Amino acid sequence: MALNTPKFGSITTRRLTSVVDAAALLRDGGIVAFPTETVYGLGVDARNPEAIERLFLAKGRPSDNPLIVHVASIDDWRLAARTLTDTASALLTAFAPGPLTVVLPKHPSISHRVTAGLDTVGLRIPASREAHELLREAQIPIAAPSANRSGRPSCTTWQSVMEDLDGRIDAVLEGEPCTVGLESTVVDCCGPVPILLRPGFVSLADLQAVVPSTVAISRDQLHALASPGLRHPHYQPNARVHLVDHPAECNVTAGTAGEFPVAYAGLIPHPYAARLALHASFENIEAYAMNLYEFLRRADRLRVRDIYLQQVADTGLGQALSDRQRRSAGIIKP
Ligand code: TXA
Ligand code: MG
Repeated sequence: MALNTPKFGSITTRRLTSVVDAAALLRDGGIVAFPTETVYGLGVDARNPEAIERLFLAKGRPSDNPLIVHVASIDDWRLAARTLTDTASALLTAFAPGPLTVVLPKHPSISHRVTAGLDTVGLRIPASREAHELLREAQIPIAAPSANRSGRPSCTTWQSVMEDLDGRIDAVLEGEPCTVGLESTVVDCCGPVPILLRPGFVSLADLQAVVPSTVAISRDQLHALASPGLRHPHYQPNARVHLVDHPAECNVTAGTAGEFPVAYAGLIPHPYAARLALHASFENIEAYAMNLYEFLRRADRLRVRDIYLQQVADTGLGQALSDRQRRSAGIIKP
């Protein structure tokens, strides 16, 4: 028998505009969604096991998937980590605040529930003004996964957060849409050689420019190594996602009357754009990355059956975008 299970739907999710109110609620053990430059995060006090428990339930997150801990500045690393390795220090100096997470030996005050039993912790210093002010005001380490129901595309607007989590969390901070649009680059900095676990806006080449020995995780390591989140399904809309190299590959033909119940997004516009249920063409990879998740969510709102995503070159930010595209299509292994 399930005892003490929170009754979701009975919680009133407050819409906040003040970071001071949001910080106070976090210090009181609340679950508060807030904007970062990457995606919205679902924050709780990283030292409060009860709040963390509620967070996992609210999100429907597998309990073997560790959370990233957020602090206001590099100087605050001791709130989350036991030691700052040389490689982490070099990478944070180059890219923090920003869309980078470094994995380090964890500080004893961080709950094992946050790290899913691991002795390491993901540490991130977000760059967006709202996230920075919130963390500075709260003065506590904030554990925050992406603010979406587990398995769904991440949220880059507060309205999408409400779509997934209204009635399940205490509050959402109504901030700006996210500018990066894909989750942070995650790099394991515990050993002598940094290992890129999850590609993001900070690319492998960017990391290697600072620490040349940095390597990308191999397929074998992916299954052996301790980043369980990489093994779970992610970023999946209800519609079926197909990856194409060119719009001509979409199952849409000229001369068919009426609207096609499909969505298409890519760098090259679709020739029958006006007749598709949803169409988006982007000027560059940055704009594609920034808008991908909202596009997938919009397609679901329109109840389209098939989503076609044009693939991009697997370099720079394209590496992160390709990774998310493949995962949204249900291809787990990169
Ligand atoms: O941009 C982001 O990183 C956003 C914002 C809110 O900061 N957060 C985010 O969190 O994407 P989440 O929980 O959706 O993804 C965290 C990823 C997962 O793949 C998880 O396995 C990995 O980071 N991770 C966290 N702690 C780790 C650790 N100690 N060792 C290895 N991987 C870790
Ligand atoms: Mg996530």
